[in-house]
Amino acid sequence: MHILLGVSSGIAIYKTVDLVSKLRKENYDIDIVMTENAAKLVSPTVFSAVGNCNVYINTFDINHGWITHTDLSKKTDIFVLAPATANTIAKIANGLADNLLTTIALALPEKTPKVIVPTMNTRMYENPITQKNLENLNKYGWYILEPDEGHLACGDIGKGRYPDNRKILEVIKFITSPKILMNKKVLVTAGPTRENIDPIRFISNNSSGKMGYSMAKVAKRLGAYTCLISGPTCLEKPHLIDEFIQVTSANEMFNRVMERVTEYDLIIMTAAVADYKPKTVSNSKIKKVNSKLIVELERTKDILSEIGKNKKNNQIVVGFAAETENIIEYGKEKLKKKNADYIVANNANEVMGKDSTKVYVISKDSIKEIEGSKEKVAEEIYKIII
Ligand code: CTP
Repeated sequence: MHILLGVSSGIAIYKTVDLVSKLRKENYDIDIVMTENAAKLVSPTVFSAVGNCNVYINTFDINHGWITHTDLSKKTDIFVLAPATANTIAKIANGLADNLLTTIALALPEKTPKVIVPTMNTRMYENPITQKNLENLNKYGWYILEPDEGHLACGDIGKGRYPDNRKILEVIKFITSPKILMNKKVLVTAGPTRENIDPIRFISNNSSGKMGYSMAKVAKRLGAYTCLISGPTCLEKPHLIDEFIQVTSANEMFNRVMERVTEYDLIIMTAAVADYKPKTVSNSKIKKVNSKLIVELERTKDILSEIGKNKKNNQIVVGFAAETENIIEYGKEKLKKKNADYIVANNANEVMGKDSTKVYVISKDSIKEIEGSKEKVAEEIYKIII
């Protein structure tokens, strides 16, 4: 996938170097076009080295028959302008083409996705002239990624900050992914649950939530309305997700899922829900005694089984099984016992907490093995079940 990155002279330009690094890690084929002023802030050499790519600045460079503005604009799958200054936005919105970047922007085919990341002082951003220019670009099909609020380089506090590069990357992936889940609603559970013993202690497990968060992010990318119900994790809320609900205990997760489940087409139960909880929860801290302490546990409600029992014909229910032995055999048992359409089984010893995984997608009549990053595996799982 070819990405053409436009860079204008916002002071946040140093953050764009990290965006280039992230794009390279994701194997995008990158070309960069900078304004002359941008090149005064950060050397094109830095961008070229970090992106392992060409950096173009001048319209009139001799390039052996290559006409930079038209050839680059034809070649690209997505154009991203970050940071986008008020000046460059104004020029593009009004069809001015007085440097290579704005000339390319004007030459981009209508069907090429275009993303703009406005980054500037709040007053410049909120000025009705800038707003009108952004509105016009939006009407012409440009995706406007709103800036964040907070401390700005000039010392002011307000809207205009360069957003997190992970958010920009997510927007790029969202725009360029095939929409195989269009018009579908996907409910995903993720992470561990916590079962309190007293106000200070709890029982939980080692689930990082990474697989569930990947299932939710990818569902959104593929076009689904996506709700993520998550137990406590260290992960940040996925950008672009439609609903994000944080819960603590298995019982809370049960309630939040059950309130919604009938509205959803795909239910992806990635969460490592606790199977047991303390029979009684002490209201005050349990003080240590010299002899042993026995905490009596009782079963939690099994959310997946409950969904399996009441499943509607058009619903697809996917359970997960983290095992340490007899992975496929136990996965098959769970498929039947919980009346799921698929069980995604893995070896917990090998994949828990990692960014990559190996899973077996088990259905009534097939077993498929998938390996790769958790996001890649999530994509393959959706391709299998849809
Ligand atoms: N699950 C659930 N509610 C529970 C427990 C588990 O919905 N109270 C779901 C998980 O989200 C996952 C699947 O069931 O999709 C895991 O099955 P489970 O039988 O709980 O696996 P283990 O806890 O590993 O059980 P076992 O001890 O039988 O291996």
